[in-house]
Amino acid sequence: MKERGDKLNDIIRLSIELNRIHDEDMILDKILHEARAITGADAGSIYIKKGMSLVFSHVQNDTIQKALPPGRKMPYTVFEIKINPASVSGYVANTGRIVAIDDVYQIPADSPYSFDPSFDKISNYKTTSMLTVPLTNNMQEVLGVLQLINAKDESGNIVPFDSGDEPLILHFASVVSMVLERAGMTRAMILRMIRMAELRDPKETGAHVNRVASYAVEIYDEWAKRKNIPDTQREHYCDLLRMAAMLHDVGKVAISDLILKKPSRFTEEEYATMKSHTWLGSDLFTPVNSELDAIARDVAAAHHENWDGSGYPGALIPEAGFDSKSCLPLSNEKIPIWGRIVAIADVYDALSSRRVYKEAWSEKDVLDEIRKESGKKFDPEIVEIFFDRIDNIRALREKYPDVK
Ligand SMILES: [Fe+2]
Ligand SMILES: [Fe+2]
Repeated sequence: MKERGDKLNDIIRLSIELNRIHDEDMILDKILHEARAITGADAGSIYIKKGMSLVFSHVQNDTIQKALPPGRKMPYTVFEIKINPASVSGYVANTGRIVAIDDVYQIPADSPYSFDPSFDKISNYKTTSMLTVPLTNNMQEVLGVLQLINAKDESGNIVPFDSGDEPLILHFASVVSMVLERAGMTRAMILRMIRMAELRDPKETGAHVNRVASYAVEIYDEWAKRKNIPDTQREHYCDLLRMAAMLHDVGKVAISDLILKKPSRFTEEEYATMKSHTWLGSDLFTPVNSELDAIARDVAAAHHENWDGSGYPGALIPEAGFDSKSCLPLSNEKIPIWGRIVAIADVYDALSSRRVYKEAWSEKDVLDEIRKESGKKFDPEIVEIFFDRIDNIRALREKYPDVK
């Protein structure tokens, strides 16, 4: 455990560092780490409230981590627990009260909460002292719970948490709450953007964006598995990609109705204007303030790029600004993965659907076309994954039918 003066210095240093980090996961990881360092806690977790459940969002445990081979991450054994008012974290989430326990195996029988030893059993760990604080926003709504486990003294013995540390931990909790609140606001804003794009172009947008987003997530899920991306990270990106893919054409809000809703073929000039929806869309997410912004920007910018470099808009030449004639062709892996995935999802959906200017293609023709374009329009690996998951993709197609 550290001296009080050192602890305050740590907090000031952390506040300065946090201002430089944008990624919310990194911020939460760092706060958990510092909260543990200040109280001498061996382990700690952040749970986030989702409906009536608490979801494990960040877990750190020095003892378990040390027992793992170098470089290996701690396995998550539980992802989600129902808020059970009888469990310590459930009690804290329900009441918004702080709970400090010296020994979780000695909780008196008449106490309003009890300790669930299942995590200890699965992980072969022994929880003793515990400090659990609620994460609340400024409307006093509980967003989650911060839990610290097994405070240690200088000699490494497990001791009760120092009650003098509670104000410091409450400070950390308020920073975590602010980060969660900010992430929630970003998400709400994105959902509003999706609704706004729908108002502008209800026919093209509604079911089409839901289908494209769910195909893209299906493809990314398999791609990430093949690349051995850890489960938690894969789920996190699936979630971000769903929203980003729904916004692939958001730049069309800036295109005139005369072009956007034209029932016949475009003139060359109209086509050039139409192409601008890629960079106009990507501009909406710049400056990038979050991972979601970065993915949404890549999707908007790159969903009409082709694997062989024949797509648009291409790579920006900074001095020339965005102009389709002055961009360099973008090809292969230089096209962001999010763009390569959404490209195939978008084309598959466009060909399979009826539009004002064309009938829907038969499934055989659509699939033949996608196979034919492997290595030309599309990344061959993504085409392979697409066919691997075609049954699920078909099912998703049924899930979001066009409104007649
Ligand atoms: Fe587009
Ligand atoms: Fe589209």
